[in-house]
Amino acid sequence: MTDQSERIRLAAERLRSAGRVCCLTGAGVSAESGVPTFRGVGGLWRGRRPETLATPEAFEDDPHEVWRFYLWRRGLLKDCKPNPGHHALAAMERILPDFTLITQNVDGLHTQAGSRNVLALHGDIWIDRCTACGHESRATGDDLESIPRCKRCGAMARPGVVWFGEMLPPDVFDAARNACRRCEVMLVAGTSSVVQPAASLAEWARAAGAAVIEINPEATPLTESADITIPGPSGTLLPAIVELLT
Ligand code: OAD
Repeated sequence: MTDQSERIRLAAERLRSAGRVCCLTGAGVSAESGVPTFRGVGGLWRGRRPETLATPEAFEDDPHEVWRFYLWRRGLLKDCKPNPGHHALAAMERILPDFTLITQNVDGLHTQAGSRNVLALHGDIWIDRCTACGHESRATGDDLESIPRCKRCGAMARPGVVWFGEMLPPDVFDAARNACRRCEVMLVAGTSSVVQPAASLAEWARAAGAAVIEINPEATPLTESADITIPGPSGTLLPAIVELLT
């Protein structure tokens, strides 16, 4: 048995024997669907300063420029489909007795793959939220040219995502923190574990006694403290774990 298959076997064993499991995902889980990550080679933020585009101040200064960025991202996502990693996590939710999926991704691919218990920490890129009355509607992606306006009052909408300097939705974050503090296994896949407060969730789980399993082709600040690290792509590794669970 190779070292890698031993790690996969150990991860599956831990997951199978756990009563409660949490999984935190990041952009890497969608990489094999063709969605660019933020910090790697070809990452979305490379050559750009995120604070010039993803902040409330930037939107106030130049909403057209910020919307151009988000409409471009919607255009990239429009034809992206969930990959085997997303499907494996949806299967884990069906197989394991108590499974909470926490994601930093705004692409909606976990839900498309069939995950139901999803806490989207950073919001949903397909939501248009009115800047005047707060009304939310779901974008179809048919019009990627014009700035969306509120269907109720006509004011300018903003993307339904969390920007730098904004609070995470308190109810979603509280639910995520509580789930992490109660779980026995914390699976962390496809995130650089550098953006707070999401990056602290695994630390809180570990401090409360959970075993931490990390899946990532590269080392992260979490790697050293993880109980099991499985280096490699989530689109291959997550299905391999699920195969051993079924
Ligand atoms: P990053 O772009 O920071 O990190 C992506 C991670 O995925 C890296 O650690 C890669 O090594 C890993 N990776 C790449 N390909 C992979 C694959 N096939 N399988 C598994 N892992 C892979 O993305 P996040 O950690 O999600 O926030 O970034 C966190 C937040 O920073 C984002 O939600 C966004 C960004 O700024 C906001 O916009 C508020």
